[in-house]
Amino acid sequence: MKDLKKLLQSMTLEQKVAQLVQITYAHISKEEAEEWARRGVGSFLHVLGDEARHLQKIATQSGAKIPLLFGIDAIHGHCLNKRATVFPTQLSMACSFDPELIKKMGRATAREVSADGLHWTFSPVLCLARDIRWGRVGETFGEDPFLAGELGAAIIEGYQGGDASIIACAKHYIGYGEATGGRDSYDTSVTYRKIKEVFLPPFARAIEAGCASVMTAYGSIDGTPCTADKKLLCEILKDGLKFDGFVVTDWQNVGHLIRDQHLAKNEKDASLISLEAGNDLMMNAPEFYESMISLVKSGGVQESLVDEAVMRILSVKEHFGLLDDPYKQANEDYLACEEHLRLAEEIAEESAVLLKNDGILPIERKYKNILVVGQSADDIRCQYGDWTYFSHPLPDYEQPPHRPYCTLLEGVRESAERLGCNVVYEKGCEIESNDESGIEVAVKAAEKCDLIVFACGDNIHLAAEGRDRADVTLTKAQNQLFAALCQTNKPIVSILVATKPLCIPEIDRSSNAVITNFNGGMFGGRALAKVLFGELNPSGKLPISFPRHVGQQPAYYNQLPGWHASSYVDMPNKPLYPFGKGLSYASFAYSDCRFDVQTLKLKVTVTNTGVRDGKEVVQIYFRDLVSSVMTPVKRLIAFRKIALSAGESKTLEFEFTRKDFSLVNAQEERVTETGEFEIMAGGSSDDGDLLKTNFVL
Ligand code: NOJ
Repeated sequence: MKDLKKLLQSMTLEQKVAQLVQITYAHISKEEAEEWARRGVGSFLHVLGDEARHLQKIATQSGAKIPLLFGIDAIHGHCLNKRATVFPTQLSMACSFDPELIKKMGRATAREVSADGLHWTFSPVLCLARDIRWGRVGETFGEDPFLAGELGAAIIEGYQGGDASIIACAKHYIGYGEATGGRDSYDTSVTYRKIKEVFLPPFARAIEAGCASVMTAYGSIDGTPCTADKKLLCEILKDGLKFDGFVVTDWQNVGHLIRDQHLAKNEKDASLISLEAGNDLMMNAPEFYESMISLVKSGGVQESLVDEAVMRILSVKEHFGLLDDPYKQANEDYLACEEHLRLAEEIAEESAVLLKNDGILPIERKYKNILVVGQSADDIRCQYGDWTYFSHPLPDYEQPPHRPYCTLLEGVRESAERLGCNVVYEKGCEIESNDESGIEVAVKAAEKCDLIVFACGDNIHLAAEGRDRADVTLTKAQNQLFAALCQTNKPIVSILVATKPLCIPEIDRSSNAVITNFNGGMFGGRALAKVLFGELNPSGKLPISFPRHVGQQPAYYNQLPGWHASSYVDMPNKPLYPFGKGLSYASFAYSDCRFDVQTLKLKVTVTNTGVRDGKEVVQIYFRDLVSSVMTPVKRLIAFRKIALSAGESKTLEFEFTRKDFSLVNAQEERVTETGEFEIMAGGSSDDGDLLKTNFVL
């Protein structure tokens, strides 16, 4: 245990300012990196293994001898390293509605990150995805603040606990996913009341779970860049939520204040604004170093502000044992070890969502000759998210060199073999190319088969950071292929392998069944195939709504009420598939929904009325019926995934506090107002799936 105050006093101004800088290893020469390590820079990002150890040696032998903190984007596994486990993306794993499983994933990722000698992951993403045009929807836990908070807390506990803990980072603070036009890094025009009501709760939950760092978003709130927003960083985050970790800017946010957001004239101004607003570590901001030293020397900033930021960084380093053991590292055998691979497969299975089924599924032995068609079925890259080694940096779009993994086609072949069915594959077309010359061959193959498995979706070129889409439908060639396959009148099961929801009303209309698990990682394909053949009873639910059309957005379920237009002139208001939806081969009935206002406990009975054992995600929503500000038509406040054998009933109990029924009033205070509430229990956010009862607080 080090005396941090003493350590701080022993440091020169240069050494202190260096602690506030994070350097991107890939962008500089080895010699420059060594020089930064000698200066005692606080952190590097994206450096692995031996190179990291080399820099650590230099840092711990120079100046103040403070160990470097190594950070990386290990957001769905440590998969910027080719040897690591690729888990389903956050959006994909959110379909499991299973915090325990996600905590295990966090723990596994921590071990793999630590096996590389690294200490810090820039995860979880707690942005809400309420506009599917945004390129980073797949990185989130979906649209709901409560779900994002619960799953975020779980993954943080996984990262920061256990035998090889690493530091978590809740990002991007704040409102980043809600930017104008779904455009990455643009302004989010919302009030602070809305920030506190909608976007803050997942961060509050993360901090409650002990999250040691928070990253500011690229964007701005009503014209003030998050990096420059003292109210957001100091008043709301550090003072309000009692956050005692450190705040890191996003990549080059100091520089963006000059070049892109036009808030600062020069590097000194930008450095001053960033520090005064409450940022502690400046990501990829080498310019901050000279600027801040000269600002302090000239009296342009109080040294105590620098000290405060340094203390936050040192405290986290100390808390995670880095000051005592700079070479803290887990066993390399953790990388893609059997236990982690099985976990990745289990998450993919728990996250498979059956969106439509007219009775065709499970196919079991009914169909002897199956055609699998579509590039997404036979390209593992389509199953991976946007922070894997092949996606960074683009356009280095190479096929992953290593096994094990299982594409959808391989999964279908495995299951079909067990059941004695034949499988034929045709690509038909590519996701991005307009070349339709393969469609005819695919149609000929379709004519000879009994069932078509149509794999469709997007890929990494159509999503991720800075890659937003205005048109969120299937690409032209995929639509043409689907239309041609429909002409054969063969039964079609469509499988969406995609980073995020796409607008697919035609797929829904003309397919007999639809399944997805978004980017299901290494074993996403096998999980989908098992659902297809009935070897797995699906239990995933949607963490995000599917709009029918991009113009129907926003389609999120927890909207404020309105009355004039209960429908558009040209289409319904309701999404194609709502939040919380997901079918099963079992069926579940809800009864006896009772709320006890004395104990604030809700009881509800759930019965498996089907003939198969299954799992159900029981969801509890509420509505404040009369309130001082308008409140959403419903809000998720609890969920639990349960297993029920065929015919079995369980009575579940959920306990709440008054705060669970709170709102943020016009004075921006979180309060619970007295009056009448409605509480709902069921298997999705759709009114038709919910049992309701009222109570008075
Ligand atoms: C920019 C991204 O917005 C952020 O999510 C990521 O953690 C950093 N770059 C570091 O790679």
